[in-house]
Amino acid sequence: MQKLRLSIPVRRLRLLIALAFALTVFALVVPELAAEQRLLKLAIPLGLPTDTWSYYVPRTNPMTEAKVELGRKLFFDARLSADGKVSCSSCHDPKLAFGDGKAVAEGISGKLGTRNSPSLLNAMFYPNQFWDGRAEGLEDQAIQPLTNPIEMGNASYDQVVARLKTLPEYRAEFQVVFGGEVTIARVGQAISAYERTLVSGDSPFDRFNAGDQSAMSDAAKRGLTVFRGRARCSRCHTFSEALPFFTDFQYHNTGVATNDPRFDKLSRIAFNAVDTEQSKEVIDGLAKQPGGEELGRVRFSYVVFDIGAFRTPTLRNIALTAPYFHDGSARTLAEVVKFYNEGGKLNVAREWDLAPLALTDQEQRDLVAFLESLTGKLPENVVSQHR
Ligand code: HEC
Ligand code: HEC
Repeated sequence: MQKLRLSIPVRRLRLLIALAFALTVFALVVPELAAEQRLLKLAIPLGLPTDTWSYYVPRTNPMTEAKVELGRKLFFDARLSADGKVSCSSCHDPKLAFGDGKAVAEGISGKLGTRNSPSLLNAMFYPNQFWDGRAEGLEDQAIQPLTNPIEMGNASYDQVVARLKTLPEYRAEFQVVFGGEVTIARVGQAISAYERTLVSGDSPFDRFNAGDQSAMSDAAKRGLTVFRGRARCSRCHTFSEALPFFTDFQYHNTGVATNDPRFDKLSRIAFNAVDTEQSKEVIDGLAKQPGGEELGRVRFSYVVFDIGAFRTPTLRNIALTAPYFHDGSARTLAEVVKFYNEGGKLNVAREWDLAPLALTDQEQRDLVAFLESLTGKLPENVVSQHR
């Protein structure tokens, strides 16, 4: 009896040892997850919201390593354009903080656009894309330049897809990443997955904010006080630990649109049309006229405050992305500060509380020094891709 009772635990022990052995062998022999399943590990730089990071990655488009790599290839591939000469990176160049350093974009056959190419650093955090917010998210935005006649010039999305399907390497990679053929939606998903790696933080300001008093110069520290205080910049370029991007993600009319001589007339007609029964009809008509793009956000919202209103841009990395404003009209940060010091430019719908600031020369220089302290770094694994 006793012998029997003892033998059961011994047998169990043997079984356990065999099981542990088998598990160890399994772990050693079975390879780790393949790149098409492995999610990319991104070291989110200091100052950016690590906790809420995953909220910005749609569940419908997880960032697998293979997808990010495919998106990166597409982003730099000029074969996506009608003449084989323009890629996304032509206007969003990694060497220029993913901008292009020009006043307005220059696309296919040197055609000039009407707007300044924004930096793509931290673009994933904007709830809407473009200066007037007309695209929902990155997936929605990423395919639009392909058929824009002055950007990449393709006649249709079908044309782009058909061209990519003739390239064996893309046929194979889409199969691996998506388990299917090339579609325009998948092109958008891959490019967006890559764009979500372009996060930038760890600037002198971020290190200062984390407690390193020596990270920012005295001029930059004084500039921060002016930024939050007398100059009231932080009314629109808001900062919080959860949303540390120096933007309220809203649209404002600061008067930049008045640089276009056609804006005055168009904005007055729009002003009289909003809140009437014909508002949509009138504004849609104005939008199509030469200079109509300068009406900005109102073209999509039909709201009076949005006449000549454009999105408050992030100020991170701002020292790297001259020239400034949606039309590239300010060449330097000093010029931007001068613009605000004069209260922006008056027009029918200028933001009500922009007014001349009477900042001293010293305060203006300090503001620029503060803006220069917002230049950050990319995660190391993203930087290494661009070497
Ligand atoms: C010819 C230059 C040009 C090319 C090529 C180009 N872009 Fe852009 N991009 C721009 C301009 C200009 C804007 C701003 C347009 C606007 O707001 O109306 C913009 C805006 C964007 C935005 C919105 C960023 C923000 O802050 O709202 C994203 C994202 C973007 N482009 C990604 C891409 C991708 C992806 C490609 C390639 C498929 C691409 N771009 C090709 C010039 C270009
Ligand atoms: C009423 C809201 C508001 C206030 C106040 C404000 N800004 Fe802006 N800022 C904007 C908007 C909107 C734009 C884009 C304007 C455009 O291009 O039409 C902008 C653009 C900028 C740009 C150019 C960004 C780029 O990518 O081209 C800089 C730099 C800037 N602001 C700095 C400041 C500073 C410094 C102050 C304080 C002196 C300030 N802003 C006050 C709303 C505001």
